[in-house]
Amino acid sequence: MTYSKPLIDDIFGGIRPAARALDKAATTIQGWYDAGTIPQKHWNDVIKTAKEFDHHLTPDDFFPVKSPDASSFGYPFEKRHCLSIDDFHRPDIETLLSLGEHYLDLNVQKNPDRSVLKGKTLINVFFENSTRTEKSFELAGKRLGADVISMQIASSSVKKGETLLDTAATLNAMNPDILVVRHGSSGAPALLSQKVSCSVVNAGDGMHEHPTQALLDALTLRQAFDGQIDGLRIAICGDILHSRVARSNVKLLNMLGAEVRLVGPPTLLPTDADRWGVDIFHEMKTGLKGCDVVMMLRLQLERMSGAFVPSKREYFHFHGLDRTKLGYAKDGALVMHPGPMNRGVEISSDIADDPDISLITQQVETGVAMRMGILHALSEAQDRSKGANR
Ligand code: NCD
Repeated sequence: MTYSKPLIDDIFGGIRPAARALDKAATTIQGWYDAGTIPQKHWNDVIKTAKEFDHHLTPDDFFPVKSPDASSFGYPFEKRHCLSIDDFHRPDIETLLSLGEHYLDLNVQKNPDRSVLKGKTLINVFFENSTRTEKSFELAGKRLGADVISMQIASSSVKKGETLLDTAATLNAMNPDILVVRHGSSGAPALLSQKVSCSVVNAGDGMHEHPTQALLDALTLRQAFDGQIDGLRIAICGDILHSRVARSNVKLLNMLGAEVRLVGPPTLLPTDADRWGVDIFHEMKTGLKGCDVVMMLRLQLERMSGAFVPSKREYFHFHGLDRTKLGYAKDGALVMHPGPMNRGVEISSDIADDPDISLITQQVETGVAMRMGILHALSEAQDRSKGANR
């Protein structure tokens, strides 16, 4: 159930009059229509302006009665898995982001709708350590009413020599609806997805992809830049070579019309990066010039055999983000980091903890909502395909 269009139409009489009254771009109001919801930061504005039109709104008026269908965003989401950004077209992405936005609003409600995944089982299968991604999926699943379990891989049969495919067969026998998989090898979630009958979400595979991180980053940017990613200049900096986050983000941000730059020492840039559709820089001073957003990446020491940088101290000196280097970017540029952070290696605490500059906490908060959106869309696609096969 969406509420933004009827609400805006009723009070202001459509997009253009609403845009005029609220002093916003028509595309912003259109974004509210598409999402079905109005972002919370605009509620006060809308309430105040509506008064001038003799409508007395309260925050309760901004809560949708029920979660929307993914198809209510105008495009039926039909993908079975979420493995790589390559699997999605722009309308899929728009649907997912709109659902994520919806859950950002819904998550501040006292009694959120918990029925979307009721009766479904989600299993988190993390072969690599994780704090925020695993917990974020756990919370997302629970908030949607699913039964959620997280496999303790350290104590599982994998350590006793079970192959990935045997593990897949075991998991499949538990009849889950969604498996969320993180694995140290690129392609492992995709392989698993061919051997199980449920949906598989890639929560990070080796140095390959981390599509849900890219989606949550895009949603964070949409929130920070009033819905507008198109035209933003974004620098992704640091250890690009070992980063699945960078690979997924480059694909998604390019698709959404951002101008993407990679900034890092030559040893930490993949040799094929010139074919990624990005501009490449080796120095922060030139790389950050005119950037709206600076996305820092962790130096992934666990994936390095041998020395890729002379020392952490020297790395910070040349490539770590501090006030001086941030000064090369646009005035008011915002900073992102997928976490976990190595403070004093790729980013100074001073920057990471400055709420006027850093979007890092928002990324974590947005992560839960975005994953709720992804789980919702996959579950609805499953139900639709079951219905079609009946
Ligand atoms: C990233 C990952 O695991 O790829 N973290 C995350 O998902 N929050 C980035 C990293 O480990 O540096």
